[in-house]
Amino acid sequence: MEGLRIRTVLRETAVGEQVEVSGWARSRRDSKAGLSFIVLNDGSSFDSLQVIAKNDLENYESVVKKIATGASVRVKGVLVESPGKGQRVELHAESVELIGDAPNSYPLQKKRHTLEYLREIAHLRPRTNTIGAAMRVRHHLAMATHDFFRSNDFFYIHTPIITASDTEGAGEMFQVSTLDPKNLPRTDTGEIDWSQDFFGRKTYLTVSGQLNAEILAMALGRVYTFGPTFRAENSNTPRHVAEFWMIEPEVAFLELEGDADLAEAYLKHTLKHTLENCESDLGFFNKRIQPGLIEDLQKVVETPFVRLTYTEALKVLNDSGESFEYSTAWGELLQTEHEKYLTDIVFNAPVIVTDYPADKKAFYMKLNDDGKTVRAMDVLVPRIGEIIGGSEREWRLDVLKERIAAHHLDEADYWWYMDLRKFGSAPHSGFGLGFERLLMYATGIKNIRDAIPFPRTPRNATF
Ligand code: 4AD
Ligand code: MG
Repeated sequence: MEGLRIRTVLRETAVGEQVEVSGWARSRRDSKAGLSFIVLNDGSSFDSLQVIAKNDLENYESVVKKIATGASVRVKGVLVESPGKGQRVELHAESVELIGDAPNSYPLQKKRHTLEYLREIAHLRPRTNTIGAAMRVRHHLAMATHDFFRSNDFFYIHTPIITASDTEGAGEMFQVSTLDPKNLPRTDTGEIDWSQDFFGRKTYLTVSGQLNAEILAMALGRVYTFGPTFRAENSNTPRHVAEFWMIEPEVAFLELEGDADLAEAYLKHTLKHTLENCESDLGFFNKRIQPGLIEDLQKVVETPFVRLTYTEALKVLNDSGESFEYSTAWGELLQTEHEKYLTDIVFNAPVIVTDYPADKKAFYMKLNDDGKTVRAMDVLVPRIGEIIGGSEREWRLDVLKERIAAHHLDEADYWWYMDLRKFGSAPHSGFGLGFERLLMYATGIKNIRDAIPFPRTPRNATF
């Protein structure tokens, strides 16, 4: 690959060196003294390189003075010390090549655009400060995820995207079918005959890789997935998308307390890595999107998370004197307003809530001895709410059968899942982290549609 990345040039290349860079012009300004200043960004970092082109270049009038915001440009020249503030070096151009022009209908002119507007031009928005920075931080969070699990002896596994099971039992699955909707095969009784579909049965896009991850954990001991998951929730909130990425570790011989320790250590590791590796991008978010962000994240990395049970959390809410819209009676789910009250008002820190009412949680969670609650945990963080959902899994075959029946599920569909409890069963636990929510937490981004390059939401799948 020819040329250098601007990030490298800004940080590492010595003054006096000859360099070649390619990128997109953010702006061009001409001085009366026959100089043009081009701010060039190639996406490698938040910071751009200042290019200075003089009128003694042979194409100065014909090319340099026509470079518009958004044009792609290649520049060769010498790196010199910058007299300007906030940058170590700048590039004195010896040749400037205009590769792709950008007419003034380019939708990203040099001014601030709203995030709503940028969502309508998702094909161009990665070139903006906000979305560019978000995508770089997203990369670092992904790399930190792999780092963390590898250094803790986990195996990275892949679970299927097409599945026949609704892990969470919420009935929010996208169906996968190759049948022709205009000509559906019918059974004798007039029902749609799914046995004639591609897989010989009804199939869906997965809502979670957990059940398959459990299989691999019960063989390899410590595993994690990092893949796309799909939910046909018709909720237009700033925290839900129909397609999101989930990180799901699953560990054999681990109980709920250890699962909570793992979740806390994982979150701290990824945030610390981001603080250490995304200085300019986080600096931008700290200044423009979420004042105090960096200090908050530093505190989160250094402070133990609060841990309490669902029952204790309700007591905190009920003793607070606050009036909530939704009920805080025992047995009701915690709503966003309750979660926010705990994280943002009471504790001002991440909170791990455990032991939720059994009938509000999925069938696979281990039943406590009280017979009413399960070994579930949700990790709630300020500004976002739930970022992780996890649990210790029911590993006793007889109790699992009862739970399957209580959830009105069909044992026959779970024969392989029950086999794990029949042959060499053991306690095991895991969790799922919504990757876009982690990115929102790490950057202060307020709408999940800006934390994934191409959001999928109800009535929206352009790009
Ligand atoms: O709490 P959830 O539903 O847990 C599971 O799916 C478990 N099977 C995970 C496990 O134990 N292996 O989802 C996990 C996380 C949530 O805490 C949230 O961060 C995220 O996934 N999430 C979503 N993120 C964006 N858009 C949505 N529609 C989401 N639904 C869940
Ligand atoms: Mg959940």
